[in-house]
Parts: sequence; C-alpha cells; structure tokens
Amino acid sequence: MPAQILPKEAYYSPEWFQREQETLFTKTWQLVAYESDFNDTGDYVTARIGVQPIAVVQDAEGNLNAFKNICRHRGTELLEGRGNAGKTLVCPYHRWTFGLDGRLRGVPDRSECFPDLDRKSLNLHDASIGRWKGMIFVNPDPDASFADWIAPLDAAPFPHDITDPKLQASKEFVYKLKCNWKVFFENAIDGYHLAYLHENTLGGPKVGVNVWDQHGQHMVWYSTERDGIKNRIPVFVEQQTRGAGMTKIEGAGDPGYGGVYMMFPTTMIVPSPWSLTISTMEPVDGDTTILRSRTWSPKSWWSYKEPLKGTPGYDPETGLIESRNWTQHPLETGDFQTEDVWVCEKMQRSLRSPDYSVSALAEGLGGEVMLAEFQKMVRDACA
Ligand code: FES
Ligand SMILES: [Fe+2]
Repeated sequence: MPAQILPKEAYYSPEWFQREQETLFTKTWQLVAYESDFNDTGDYVTARIGVQPIAVVQDAEGNLNAFKNICRHRGTELLEGRGNAGKTLVCPYHRWTFGLDGRLRGVPDRSECFPDLDRKSLNLHDASIGRWKGMIFVNPDPDASFADWIAPLDAAPFPHDITDPKLQASKEFVYKLKCNWKVFFENAIDGYHLAYLHENTLGGPKVGVNVWDQHGQHMVWYSTERDGIKNRIPVFVEQQTRGAGMTKIEGAGDPGYGGVYMMFPTTMIVPSPWSLTISTMEPVDGDTTILRSRTWSPKSWWSYKEPLKGTPGYDPETGLIESRNWTQHPLETGDFQTEDVWVCEKMQRSLRSPDYSVSALAEGLGGEVMLAEFQKMVRDACA
C-alpha cells in the first residue's frame, strides 16, 4: 500500500523550507527561460533557484551560458531582471567586468588595489544548462548532467513545439498560492480526485481509467478511458469541447502523448490538441508558492479570448491571481485550476493542527501511488 513518507512539517516549517532551498533546489533542474528570450549577443535572463542567484547569458557565438549571478569581488548580484548586457557583464558596485563566457576580464585600478590578484581563479561560478523543446533549464550544480535527467522523458511521446511560429504565447499568468509547493505538486499527480473535485470540469476519469507513467524523475499522465488506450484528455473534456470551434495545433491532434508532464521538482506541462501550457513553481516560503504559467496556441484562439482578465482571482492592479480576490465559489467557476487552488489552500490551513494526518493513500497508478514516489524523490534530494 502506498504510504505518506514526508512528515507534515515538510509542508510548512521554515526549517524544512530552508533545507530544501539549500539541498534539493541546488541540485535539481528548473525551467528558467525559453529559447525565444534569447535573440542577440548579451541577452540575459536572471532567476533564483533555491539559495542560488542564476544568470543565463547568450555569448557572441550564440551559446547560452549559465552562471551564479554573483560578482567574484564581494558577491553583489551582477545582473538584474532580464535584458541585454552588451558585450560584457559589468558589476555596478566597483565595475569588475566579466566576459559573456563568465571569465574575469577587468578590475579597475588593479595594479594599485590588487597587485597580487589571481585573475584566472575569479571567473563566475558555473551552473549547468540544458535546452529541451524550446525550454531552457538550469541546475545550480556545475557537474549536473542534463542528458541523464531528460533522457527517460524523451522515451515518452511529446508532439508540441513551442518554437513553431504558427503558435502564439499568452501573457504570463502569475498565481500567488497560499500553499506549500509540494501540496500543489501532489495535487497535480493525484489521479484519485479527478472524478470528484473536478466532476464538472474534467469529469474524471476515475481511478481505474487514468494512469501515471514514471520516466526517471518525470511523470506523465494519461486517460485510459478509451479501451485502455492512452489518451491525452478525458472523454468528458473531449465531449465538452466538441463543436467549440477551437483550432487544433498541427500534429497534436492524434492520441499517444500525455495530458500532463511533471518534471521534478517544479515544472508542469499540460498539452492538449489545442494548446500547451507550461508552468513553473517558485517556493516563496513554507506556506506560499508563486506559480507562473504561459500557454501556447494557434494564433486564432487567444486573439479573441482575453483569458487573463477572465481568470478567477485576477487583480489587474497587482497582476496576480489570488484566492482572496475570488468573487465566486471555486466550484462555480468552471475552472479546474481554481478548484485545485481551492483544495490546496484548504489542505494548507489544516496542516498545523495536531489532529492533521494522512490516514492512507489510494492504491493504483491512477490513484495516489505517485504521491509516495514524489515524496521519495524529495526525501532523497534533501538528504
Ligand atoms: S562587488 Fe562586484 S565589483 Fe565589487
Ligand atoms: Fe486537480
């Protein structure tokens, strides 16, 4: 029988949060940017992965390099936000200058101030980088192998290509979730709730007719309602959308690929015949997570839908989607994401009670077995 592995403190305590920041997130792969963010020499994106500030920079040869975004003089963050750094990376504090390859190039007043400086040993600290289907992943560990991490997932079919110019990216949706990132992750891999919480939005499938496949650290979900054949969407959703006139993505209409791809620890991909949504989680503290989502779809669809404005909880002032702005009961919104946020926050509010416990996890790969698999990965990565 699958069992809860992590203690409940793992889902809220500052100590657990700090431990994850220093261990799990310093040696796992996070999606930090897209190929489309880089066009010219000097283009850069910054990110924070656990305790590590990260920068990804395009050099003159068109390579993308990933570094710790930390000046080697006295440690100031070198780059800010995103933009173009020009031909070199210049620290604003004392203008130590690094090449786009991370090598220390220049130190103002060097002979006077640092006559003995060993310049060669003061290049930016490397991080590891990997490119996959238009996405840029970074692991703060300079010795991490992207090929080893991604290879198992490459065995699963994946028909969408976000670099296709016929697709259009939505604005970024930013959710502020009042729950631990693991509560949200576990909800996403819980096949047992689909038929109940999402009865009116996803309509199941029930435990026996949905399945999660594990590919290394990644998990891929399928509906198996159609004679056991793996399909990317529930029958209910297919029926609801029939006749809605949505434009299908070329090559994505056929069954075979999954409906949810979870890339441990924080990347979630949801493909459908009409769109592809990519989300990342940024743990803020034990009880708070920022979720960023973008959706790619054929140009005709998003041009008239204005989806951000209609998203339950969206506040144009802050640009955030938050439960405190909801004007309707989550179950009345017809939005499965809102239903998920609702139960995740409800669970988070119970966690500190001495009476909180997980009594049992539902058996089956379309039940709650994957929660135990996920928790093992968290436990091992925190060791
Ligand atoms: S801290 Fe960067 S130049 Fe001094
Ligand atoms: Fe859900």
